[in-house]
Amino acid sequence: MSQVPDYYYNDDPKSFGYSTARSRWPKILTQAIDDAQTLVPANVKSQFIEGLQLILDQINNDSKVVPFTDEEIAANPLLKTYNHSLEELNRHRQLTWQTGPWLYLECHLYEMIEAINLRLDAHVDIFSHLKDSTFKQLAAGVAELAKHVNHLDTTQLDEDALSLVFREFIDISLWGNATDLSLLAGGVSVDEIKLLQGKEVRKKNEQNILVNDIDQVWKQLRSKPLGRVDIVLDNSGFELLADLCLTVCLLKSKLAKEVHIHCKEIPWFVSDTMPKDVNLLLHQLSDADFFPNDPELTTLKQSLQHYIDIGKLIVDHHPFWTLDLNFWHIPEANDLYQDLLESNLIIFKGDLNYRKLTGDRQWDPTTPFTTAIQQLATSKLPIVTLRTCKADVVVGLAPGQWEEIAQKYTDMGQDGQFWVALGKWAVIQFSSGQS
Ligand code: F6P
Ligand code: MG
Repeated sequence: MSQVPDYYYNDDPKSFGYSTARSRWPKILTQAIDDAQTLVPANVKSQFIEGLQLILDQINNDSKVVPFTDEEIAANPLLKTYNHSLEELNRHRQLTWQTGPWLYLECHLYEMIEAINLRLDAHVDIFSHLKDSTFKQLAAGVAELAKHVNHLDTTQLDEDALSLVFREFIDISLWGNATDLSLLAGGVSVDEIKLLQGKEVRKKNEQNILVNDIDQVWKQLRSKPLGRVDIVLDNSGFELLADLCLTVCLLKSKLAKEVHIHCKEIPWFVSDTMPKDVNLLLHQLSDADFFPNDPELTTLKQSLQHYIDIGKLIVDHHPFWTLDLNFWHIPEANDLYQDLLESNLIIFKGDLNYRKLTGDRQWDPTTPFTTAIQQLATSKLPIVTLRTCKADVVVGLAPGQWEEIAQKYTDMGQDGQFWVALGKWAVIQFSSGQS
């Protein structure tokens, strides 16, 4: 196995982790404290807010990272894995919030918030206001997508036309990830999100897909008997809607017999999808107080509900997705691994999933994707990542490509090295699992 490079650290000003730890996390927590006023039940509100404030102080003071307590582990045994990793990482260098490895700490942060929930028996999604209010503002994009997928007629399609339809819905799902709510804490506005969503814009953005293995993905799907496709989801709201449109496309056009969508079990990285977010989205589609009344939205809701009822759309969840472990460990998560082996294609959505696929390591950008995903490349799991780039790590680029884009931004007077975190570039990368 090739040499694995080091993580990205929060004290490296060249990493997006640097500003994340100093500016975005504090903003996310401050907003959560604000939202706790209305979301948390009165009997535990002040303790909940105290808990959030304590995390915020620890980040702002660059405190040492504290392991989870025995009581916290008793309430959630999975936290043992976190303490084990923390111990290992501390051996190398004492972790503090503003200096430690970005990916580990970001996962630890969301588990700390969940530990408050468990301690107080509160069961609150502290990000739910933000999730809902952003989705509500994207009504025009939602209507456009619903109409598009409802009118998809797959009855007369030859192989070439089918392939074009598939590519289009993959594109919709890819660019649905263009902006996530955690980036709202970094100054991206809802208007900017809207700009990223229309058909025209998707067309124009094609040149921003830096690596596109879609031909291999198509071949993979067509070489297998009709079977199962999995989507390891990222964000709720608009991105989830885009992924559900891809699901409808796969089922309608008989590219899949069933689609399993994989959710997080706890509130995660602000906007990630939990099973209750899937139900909520279905409800919102036909709630005239949420979106303007539109028969297209009701039709889409009915199709999705029908696919759920007949067992073709399966909403899954697994605790592995919110461990700090990267995805090289999937084969060790035995039940999940055995389950995923049943799939013809596993689609990993979004930036965080990409960071976990590649270990969030400082790979040279020309490193082959199959090297960066380590054991997954030989795991027999056929995977594709649909990722808009919002963090440092990127692999599989041509020699000079990273530098060329950086130079473009530098010439425009911007900090060129951060092009990779802007959410404006994307990769579609495939591994058959048979390397
Ligand atoms: O960089 C911003 C960030 O919060 C990263 O920490 C994380 O990788 C990403 O956003 C989440 O994006 P996505 O929702 O696409 O996984
Ligand atoms: Mg996310």
